[in-house]
Amino acid sequence: MLVLGIETSCDETAVAVVADGRHLLSSVVSSQVELHSAYGGVVPELASRQHVQAMIPVLDEALEEASISLERIDAVAVTRGPGLAGALLVGLNFAKALALGLSRPLVAVNHLEGHIYAAWLEREDDPPFPLLALIVSGGHSDVVLMRGHGRYQRLGETVDDAAGEAFDKVARLLGLGFPGGPAIDRLAAGVEPSLRLPRARLERPYDFSFSGLKTKVQRIARGEEGVPPEPAELAAAFQESVVDSLVTKALRAASDNGAREIILSGGVAANSLRRASLQERSPLPVTVPPPPLCTDNGAMIAAAGWQRLQAGETAGLELDVEPGLRIG
Ligand code: KG4
Ligand code: ZN
Repeated sequence: MLVLGIETSCDETAVAVVADGRHLLSSVVSSQVELHSAYGGVVPELASRQHVQAMIPVLDEALEEASISLERIDAVAVTRGPGLAGALLVGLNFAKALALGLSRPLVAVNHLEGHIYAAWLEREDDPPFPLLALIVSGGHSDVVLMRGHGRYQRLGETVDDAAGEAFDKVARLLGLGFPGGPAIDRLAAGVEPSLRLPRARLERPYDFSFSGLKTKVQRIARGEEGVPPEPAELAAAFQESVVDSLVTKALRAASDNGAREIILSGGVAANSLRRASLQERSPLPVTVPPPPLCTDNGAMIAAAGWQRLQAGETAGLELDVEPGLRIG
């Protein structure tokens, strides 16, 4: 069964063709990073307009890469939230039109669920339940226990900035540009920081907080705490603190809840230190999808959509976007 996955929740127009929820026939992502970099962050109106322009060319490319015609598609899966309302609307309406025109089922997918299902792609065996998913992206840092398909329990989340947002803000104050995650990752590569930045202590054991850390980095960078260290040292110390908090809490949540595997996904999962640190410290198997499947893409939406279709879930044309949708 071929599912077309459409994703437009933020600044990537993405379409993919996935067979049986698992095998990637194509995945095309048109990134708007350059468009938004001049503003230091995503500008919602520009994002929506760019999605409108990119949608059809990206679909054509995805079909061509999969070597199939549009009629071969068996179902259309689309992100309905969370994300930017205007951006989501472009993908959702396009998906509705396709499903209606082709007389194929339409299936609505939670973007965060999509990030988890990236771990089902290109793998022969299914991840075992219960599993612990750590979803870390520009907008979210969620610790989720998944007991079965569609059965989620959110155990922890960020109380202020998302991990990716913290990377982006710290990169901006170090003058590294947007998006900040990859820039900090590159600058910090190979640096063993002697500076140790604090880890937030919170009431709920699996929650995160990154805004205090960001303020600390800002004070240090401005010389308010003595002569500032080299930017690479500061970037590495920041990265180490974020990674340590995320990994420590994910491992604790997994162990406390009897998880059999850990899945790490979302844009920040592309971080090299994170991948290494979690894999080194975890007594459980850790699945980290390859970087292009960790950042936003249509394949993860198709994979999650296929599972929903197996459960008999389809959406009607009254389907609407849910910008504030959560998981668990
Ligand atoms: O999942 P994603 O592509 O979009 C959202 O759903 O938000 O995540 C984007 C975020 C950005 O904040 C970006 O800075 C961060 O992921 N990111 C990274 C790395 N690559 C992307 N953060 C740390 N290290 C990286 N290598
Ligand atoms: Zn995402």
